[in-house]
This record gives sequence, C-alpha cells and structure tokens, in this order.
Amino acid sequence: MQTEANTAQAQGAKREAGQQAGQNIGQNSEQFTQPLIKLLQSAHAGELAAAHAYEGHARSLSAPEHAEDYREIRRIQREEMEHRQCVAHMLQLLGAGPRPSRERIMGLIGHVIWRLCVWTRPLWGSWYVAMFGAGWLESTNVGEYVRAAHCAKAAGHETMVPELLRMAEVEREHEAFFRRRCQSHILSRYLPLWPPPENSTIDTTQEKTPL
Ligand SMILES: [Fe+2]
Ligand SMILES: [Fe+2]
Repeated sequence: MQTEANTAQAQGAKREAGQQAGQNIGQNSEQFTQPLIKLLQSAHAGELAAAHAYEGHARSLSAPEHAEDYREIRRIQREEMEHRQCVAHMLQLLGAGPRPSRERIMGLIGHVIWRLCVWTRPLWGSWYVAMFGAGWLESTNVGEYVRAAHCAKAAGHETMVPELLRMAEVEREHEAFFRRRCQSHILSRYLPLWPPPENSTIDTTQEKTPL
C-alpha cells in the first residue's frame, strides 16, 4: 500500500517536472524568437545593402588590371543574394517577413555606397577605402549570423543553426578576402585594420543553458 502511494507520488512529481520543463521551453522559445526575427530582418536588409554596394564596387573595378578583384566581388555579391533568400525563408518559417522600413533604409545606404564607389574611382586611395569598408562590414556580418545562430538555438529552432553558422563562415571568407587585399596596399601600414570577426562555433558546453 505504502509502495503504491510512493509510486503515485513519484509519478505526480515527474509529471509536474515535465510540465514545468515544457513551460520553460515555451518561455525560452517566446523570449528568443522575437530577437531572432529582429536579427534576421536586419540581416535580410543588410544583404540588400551589401548587394547594391558591391554593384558599385565591382563597376569601379572594371579596368583590366583589376580583373581578379572584379570577379571576386561579383562572386561575393552573388553569395549575398543567396544569403538574402535563405534568410527570407527562415523569416517565413517563423511566421514573419522583412521589415519594410529597414529594407528601404538599407537599400538606400547600399545605393549611396554604389554611387560613391563609382564617382570616387579616379581618386587615389579610393580602392583602399572601398576594400576597407567592405571588410569592416563583412566582419560585423559574421557576428550577426553567429548571434542569430545562438538565438535560434535558445528559441528551439535548432534546424536553422547549421545554416546560420554556414552563412557566418561565408561572411568570414569574405572578410578574409578584403583583409588580404587591404594588407597588400601601402595605406595598411599607417591605418590599423578592423578587429577580427568573432568565433562562429556554438560552444557545446552552453547547450543546456539558455543563451
Ligand atoms: Fe551575406
Ligand atoms: Fe558577405
């Protein structure tokens, strides 16, 4: 009789713990999904700005002596558009979409950079400024996708994590290209480069702790 009562009590406690855990997961999901959506909206608009900016950057490198840089910038531009599609799909899965005001602002910024790249092409140092600006922005993009991956994991959208980390790695490759190109220029001896991008791995020891 005593054993039956103990078993019933243990089962009750287990059920309660399960409900509590379920509630915590629900709260975590709620708590981290909104920041995840904001990060993805920001990334989606940022990719548009980058694609516009690289349009100008590529056009400023149309001379034959810049053929290699031109090809690389075009390849990077295509990858930014792929990222944009991928992020749009993630937003859709979260029941959200791009933020129109953010899209307009970042689209405009991208267009301004496009024009500046083309107009300043004859000026000495403009090559370096464009490479430097792109590298610095790519470095921040790495951090943005890493933060989104952490947020996705904490919100329980674990299927998005590998893709977000893959995009962070692609941004890291972009950053490394611009860093190498800047280092090849004499101005890099006098102007310090941007800080290196953050690590894009998710520490497995943090997996059970809400981020
Ligand atoms: Fe990108
Ligand atoms: Fe990039």
